[in-house]
Amino acid sequence: MTRQGAQLACLIILCILKLITAGVPLNRYEAILKQQSAPVDEELGLYDDSDKVVKLTVANFNETVLEQNRGSLVEFYNTYCGHCRRFAPTYKQIAEQLHAWQEVVIVSAIDCAAEENNGICRNYEVMGYPTLRYMRPGFQPSANQYGLKLESQKPDEIRSLLAGMVAAENHTMNNTYWPNFVPVAESESASDLFEGLNSLRQYIALIYEPENSTLAAETALFLLQWPTVQVRRFSDPAVAAKFKLDINQQQLALVDRQGNVKLHTPSEQSSDAYAKSIEGALHALNFTPRTVQSSKSNQAEAQQQANSDSTQNSLTQIIKEVQRNKHIIYQADLEQAIRTILHNEVAKVNEISGDRLLALQRFLTVLQRYNPLGTNGRQLVAKLKDFVVQFNQKLTGKEFEDEIRRLEMKLGQIYSSTQYVGCAGSSPHYRGFSCSLWTLFHFMSVQAAGNEESQDPLEVLQAMHGYIKNFFGCTDCSEHFQAMATRRKIWNVASKDDAVLWLWAAHNEVNQRLAGDDTEDPEFPKQQFPSAKSCAQCRNAPATASQENLSIDWNKDAVLSFLKNIHNPQFVSRFGVQRSELLHETLDTMRQKRQISNVFSDMDMRMGMFLYAFCIVMMVIAFKLFAFKGGYRKKPYGHDLLGKV
Ligand SMILES: Cc1cc2nc3c(=O)[nH]c(=O)nc-3n(C[C@H](O)[C@H](O)[C@H](O)COP(=O)(O)OP(=O)(O)OC[C@H]3O[C@@H](n4cnc5c(N)ncnc54)[C@H](O)[C@@H]3O)c2cc1C
Ligand SMILES: *[C@@H]1O[C@H](CO)[C@@H](O)[C@H](O)[C@H]1NC(C)=O
Ligand SMILES: *[C@@H]1O[C@H](CO)[C@@H](O)[C@H](O)[C@H]1NC(C)=O
Ligand SMILES: *[C@@H]1O[C@H](CO)[C@@H](O)[C@H](O)[C@H]1NC(C)=O
Ligand SMILES: *[C@@H]1O[C@H](CO)[C@@H](O)[C@H](O)[C@H]1NC(C)=O
Ligand SMILES: *[C@@H]1O[C@H](CO)[C@@H](O)[C@H](O)[C@H]1NC(C)=O
Repeated sequence: MTRQGAQLACLIILCILKLITAGVPLNRYEAILKQQSAPVDEELGLYDDSDKVVKLTVANFNETVLEQNRGSLVEFYNTYCGHCRRFAPTYKQIAEQLHAWQEVVIVSAIDCAAEENNGICRNYEVMGYPTLRYMRPGFQPSANQYGLKLESQKPDEIRSLLAGMVAAENHTMNNTYWPNFVPVAESESASDLFEGLNSLRQYIALIYEPENSTLAAETALFLLQWPTVQVRRFSDPAVAAKFKLDINQQQLALVDRQGNVKLHTPSEQSSDAYAKSIEGALHALNFTPRTVQSSKSNQAEAQQQANSDSTQNSLTQIIKEVQRNKHIIYQADLEQAIRTILHNEVAKVNEISGDRLLALQRFLTVLQRYNPLGTNGRQLVAKLKDFVVQFNQKLTGKEFEDEIRRLEMKLGQIYSSTQYVGCAGSSPHYRGFSCSLWTLFHFMSVQAAGNEESQDPLEVLQAMHGYIKNFFGCTDCSEHFQAMATRRKIWNVASKDDAVLWLWAAHNEVNQRLAGDDTEDPEFPKQQFPSAKSCAQCRNAPATASQENLSIDWNKDAVLSFLKNIHNPQFVSRFGVQRSELLHETLDTMRQKRQISNVFSDMDMRMGMFLYAFCIVMMVIAFKLFAFKGGYRKKPYGHDLLGKV
């Protein structure tokens, strides 16, 4: 063969090789990911050093909340719960405002989605998220004593409820900051009020507090930093008359040690306005508040910044990859879902009995059947199921957690990845677990549809319904889902294919409702799934922007085969998998045989088409070259063309 001929033949072989691998961009990205060190920190909660919320974890909970000489307002939340995310800015605002109360009550929060905190969230019997509780000074947990619940999520109401709880405490626990909440009695004179008071106290502020109001208590708390004044409340109109204070006029009285009374009129009937009015009066008399020590450490802040910089890089890469093809299913997300379910959501429930126990048994049975994990993970789930079905009365979350730990010690490493990929949010406050939970249930519904042995069309839906109802730590999601399941007649689903489509349609309804919500990741806007770009044939009429809602005319057969396709275990992407030896081997062999599939991106497809065309042209050239050897070889550009390759 001629030199050019050999070169051409090589090129054609290269071409064909390229063709085979063109649709498989995974290795390249796996390589990129393997270089990365720090996985995304899943335990980064909703609050950070830039706000005034005291961050609680298992490591500092006891020393911060138990047996203190001040109280604590504690928010139990889950990072992934949409309602918690929506509430977080409000809570930060509350913490900012009530920072002035910190000597008497702190504003704090604990992330129950962080596995390390399982024990605390379980022991405190947190039933819904977010939950706000007030733990009094000297607090020590005991049976049925897990703090007082605050049944509001409105800042003003929370402030008032909290002040009311603080003011109802009997003893001051050796806390010199603790205000005197005892109402002034009619019998007390001005000099009685100063009796036994620290000499720094130059003034008593008398505030009328109507029944069920906490105006004066709140004002007292806002003025903790002013040693010059003590705020006292009263509700007896006779006291007002004695100090010549008109209770209908929104007035307060400043009384000095000589018994002089000065009346002030705050700008409005609110504790901030009352506190400002008193501060203004004291400033005018050249008094100043104490200086509050700053608790923030710059070093810790710098460290956190450095950490977040390094995770930011890998996150950017992940998001870039995922956005190429928003419909691809990732092994990493399926694993994170299972990990969070087993190690966090189930483990933090205090008592698992009755319906809840049944739901757990059902869920584990289905997970065992359609488990995407490798050998170790399959054994873990199988053994956990065997463990759980032995119980017919009750099981505790602690027992479940201990069993997982025991099995893990025995089986070795379970998970091949440590971060979300398809469910990674552009910030830790977006996406994550709830996204992976959807993904896992879609995946299982499709596996059930392809399983000859499974007869029950409701198998997966029932397991999901029970799970969401009894374990999903996003309380409002759970309630919405149950209502939707009833409305959409989940129990009437008649075939396994219909179950796949039921879940798809239900999820789209949720997408529709949440589009534009505060919890929506700007990088991943809520759209009707699949997009026209991912699956053109899934829509009957050509898609337009205005159709990105429930009025889309779907081709359900096409949607069904699309869903079956993307959830085919062979096409589940391993992008982000760090320990592929832990994956399922039989799938591995199947994957190696895999050629171009239809789930790859337009980009890859176009690249493939281009290479295809290129190869055909090359073959034609090769054919010509062999057919007309003589004349063709002499043409100089033939050599140039091939020489550059
Ligand atoms: C049962 C349940 C109920 C929820 N209810 C609420 C609620 O009431 N309020 C609230 O704020 N949040 C709720 N959530 C959370 C919310 O639905 C999202 O999970 C969360 O906002 C993260 O959104 P996401 O952008 O990551 O995509 P998700 O909606 O979580 O979707 C995950 C992935 O699934 C794929 N997908 C999207 N739509 C479909 C579909 N129709 N069929 C198949 N695959 C699809 C996409 O690839 C997407 O990336 C609920 C979650 C669950 C699991
Ligand atoms: C915290 O206190 C609880 C209750 O007093 C106790 O059971 C638990 O062991 C303590 N935890 C730590 C880490 O000290
Ligand atoms: C406060 O003390 C009084 C009497 O000393 C008692 O009746 C009341 O129950 C106590 N309240 C609280 C919250 O402990
Ligand atoms: C208050 O402090 C004193 C001295 O420090 C101590 O003896 C007393 O037990 C403390 N009281 C309470 C209720 O903590
Ligand atoms: C105060 O609260 C009690 C109990 O909640 C209620 O019965 C009463 O009517 C309230 N009083 C006023 C003046 O609102
Ligand atoms: C949904 O689409 C229809 C037309 O396709 C449009 O009239 C309607 O306003 C859209 N609704 C929303 C909520 O976007």
